[in-house]
Order: sequence, then structure tokens, then C-alpha cells
Amino acid sequence: MSAAYGVIGWPLGHTLSPVMQQAALDALGIDAVYTALPTPPAQAPRRFRDVRAGRLAGINVTIPHKRAAAAAVDDLAPAAARLGAVNTVSLDGGRLCGDNTDLYGFAEALRRGGFDARGARALVLGAGGAARAALHALADAGAAQVVIANRTPARARGLAADLAAGAAAAAAARDLADPALQRDAARADLLVNTTSVGMAGGPAPDGLPIPAAWMHARLLVYDIVYRPAMTPLLTAARDAGARTLGGLDMLVLQGAASLERWTGRRAPVDVMRRAARAALDAADTAAGG
Ligand code: ATR
Repeated sequence: MSAAYGVIGWPLGHTLSPVMQQAALDALGIDAVYTALPTPPAQAPRRFRDVRAGRLAGINVTIPHKRAAAAAVDDLAPAAARLGAVNTVSLDGGRLCGDNTDLYGFAEALRRGGFDARGARALVLGAGGAARAALHALADAGAAQVVIANRTPARARGLAADLAAGAAAAAAARDLADPALQRDAARADLLVNTTSVGMAGGPAPDGLPIPAAWMHARLLVYDIVYRPAMTPLLTAARDAGARTLGGLDMLVLQGAASLERWTGRRAPVDVMRRAARAALDAADTAAGG
């Protein structure tokens, strides 16, 4: 019988995980099926029981279950413990294990993008789970200073305090509407967008989280949004002569790390990337864009 894997989330809209993970399992010759498992919150405990009982060989966990998963597992990998969130569940020696590969995905995509974060000044937009992963990754990579800017400044302050408590990079919090942010942008080497602004179907699909005029040629602009591939922010960055990095690499690399956790095999990253890219292109064509 084929092994069963899947991704749980609610609502589970247009997830790329099934197409990307199935392509990888097939390429590795593993007899397994990876499916989307739409799971309302009340049903999440059942999914964790399914992993414990071996009915599911492993699951990815997305919004809104990442914290619940951290509470449900027996053991937390270090990254998951730091973030208080789990995106990968597996069974190891009869124990339910939770890991978080978002931190690795963010850091590895940045590294492959040729950016050395040591001593860097970073401006991170947003203060949700993705921002938390980005901030820990930047601190680990030796960033000297990070400014966290969010529409709801209290959330940015919470994250900054968290990071400072870890004795990592110096962290400051701002309101996304604070005019002082312009100076932070001017001084930054790296701008990271973790807000959903600019995302197809998101709150402001044609919008920019900060003004285009703040982009400059010394920046690497990293938008973790992957649909569209060129967000308005990345277009503005490119026009200003900045280097750009989209969100697809992070998505693929976090998925690759999950697959390696479950199978013990080296993930075929290029196969996964091509499968995700093809699915995005097909969705764009279907949407007429
Ligand atoms: P994730 O875990 O994926 O990071 P999240 O916790 O929902 O998701 O975070 C989404 C981020 O996008 C938040 O920083 C949110 O700002 P708030 O904390 O103020 O909600 C940000 N965001 C969403 N819509 C936005 C908008 N229209 N303008 C600016 N920021 C927005």
C-alpha cells in the first residue's frame, strides 16, 4: 500500500505543496501519495492521531494549525521550539515530532540568492509567523540590525522584544506608516516583505507595502509572496536597480526540508521547483493573466 502524506490547513486554498511533493516522491521512486487535506480546527487533532497511528506517514502544517501542532507533538526540533510553530510532523521511534522548516527555507533561499547577512541592516515588513521565521534566520546569519515594521505596531514590538531577548541582532519596531521608516529603508541592505500586500487575491494585490520611491540600488529586496512571481514591490525594486528575490525558492526549500525529514532521502529541489513553477504558470493562464 502506498504511504500517505499531506498538508493540513483551513481554508486550504491554492496550496502548491501537493504538486511539488508528489513530483519529488515520484522522482525518488517512493510509492506514496501526497494530498491536500483541508482540515478545520476541530479536526486537527484527528490528523495528528493519524500520524501517530501510521495512517499518515507525515504532514505539512499550515495556517491556522502551526501553533496547535507545536502543542500536540511529543518532541519539538530546535527551530520549531524557537518559533513556537510547527510546519512538519513526523513519527520517529513512536514519538510524534514537530519541526519548522520555514526558517531554513528563508535562510537558504537568501544564501542561494547570494546575500551574505553578516553585519547587514535589514528592514522586515510584517509581524506574523513568516516575519518571525525571517527574523530568527537573519539573527542566526549574523545580521547586525533589523527594523520590524507592521501595520499593527504592537505586533512588531512583540517580535522585536522576542528577538532582543535571544541576544541576537539589535531590533527596533515601527509602525508601517511611520515616516522614519524612509530613513530605515535608505540605510538598509536588505528589505524583506512578509505582508500579504501584493499577493494575488491578497488585501492589496496591486499595492506596495512601502513607497516605490524608497527602493535603491544597494538593496536586495526579498518578497516572500510567490504569486505573482513579480510583485509590485519587486517590480519597483528592479526599476530602482535593486536585486530581487521572490518567494518561490523559500517555498520550495522549506518543502524540500520536510521531505528529507520524512524520507531520509536528498530532496530533488530542481524537480520540486519546476513542478511548483508549472502549477503557478497554469493557474495564471487559467486566471487569464
Ligand atoms: P503569516 O503568518 O503568513 O506571516 P499573518 O500572521 O496573517 O500571516 O501576517 C500577515 C502580515 O501581513 C501581518 O503583518 C499583517 O499586518 P497586521 O499585523 O497589522 O495584521 C500584514 N498585512 C495584511 N494585510 C495588510 C495590509 N493591507 N496592509 C499592511 N499590512 C498588511
